[in-house]
Amino acid sequence: MAQSQGQEKITIPDLQRMKEQGEKISMVTAYDYPTALLVDKAGLELILVGDSVGNTVLGYESTIPVELEDIIHHARAVMRAVKRAFVVGDMPFMSFNISPEEALYNAGRLMKEALVDGVKLEGGCELAQVVEAIVRRGGIPVMGHIGLTPQRASQLGGFKVQGRDKEKARKLLEDAKCLEEAGIFALILECVPYQLAKLITERVSIPTIGIGAGPYCDGQVLVFHDLVGLSFRFAPKFVKRYLDLASQIEQALRAYKEEVKAGVFPELEAHSFKMSEEVLREL
Ligand code: KIV
Repeated sequence: MAQSQGQEKITIPDLQRMKEQGEKISMVTAYDYPTALLVDKAGLELILVGDSVGNTVLGYESTIPVELEDIIHHARAVMRAVKRAFVVGDMPFMSFNISPEEALYNAGRLMKEALVDGVKLEGGCELAQVVEAIVRRGGIPVMGHIGLTPQRASQLGGFKVQGRDKEKARKLLEDAKCLEEAGIFALILECVPYQLAKLITERVSIPTIGIGAGPYCDGQVLVFHDLVGLSFRFAPKFVKRYLDLASQIEQALRAYKEEVKAGVFPELEAHSFKMSEEVLREL
């Protein structure tokens, strides 16, 4: 099994076993080669090449402008680095919403062109046919994503906790069941009360991965740039910063600039190349 053999690739049965044995699943986003290399080295089971690449790396205000080509481009860099983690490519806005056929075609492109292990899409019961087409016709693993789905933030009235009242909580429970029946292998729960996340986790047999959904999910996911403190947007309550990388990078850049201006960097011996005096004399 992947866990006990070190470098072996994480599989869907491994994730399922982890849920059944109560072993928590760790997941983070990555969009490039060095980050993916570090995440894989640290031994996290899941990597998401999320459409959050739009806010974190590409400088967009939201994930809406992200194109399938952007995800393919970043996922290819991630896949060159990863040996063990299971890598999920995010399906961006409008790449899966129009018809099951178009969704299957686009999921197929993500698999074929980036060689990811599975895809993720945002939405509930209304996407059951789309999920079925991708999973059953395409044979492509799909991860679901319900609760606060950023691609629908405008319809949801902003970036708010979802499922606090009875009707909306029931709808999320229904969405989880529909998606499970349609064939998803795991489900992201974003920004839902922890009691509801617990209930959903108990009522589905697939692993749930929470982000702002409390400690009772089968696993957790964070956006890499939030986790290492390299994000310049407002940090939601659910984010825990494990590093303050932005200020460390800024300090390093200021030190470099000062050394360049003072002529301290580069040093002759440590950072420069020498030619022989003989060749020099002949020039
Ligand atoms: O794109 C992303 O980073 C996501 C996570 C927030 C789950 O969808």
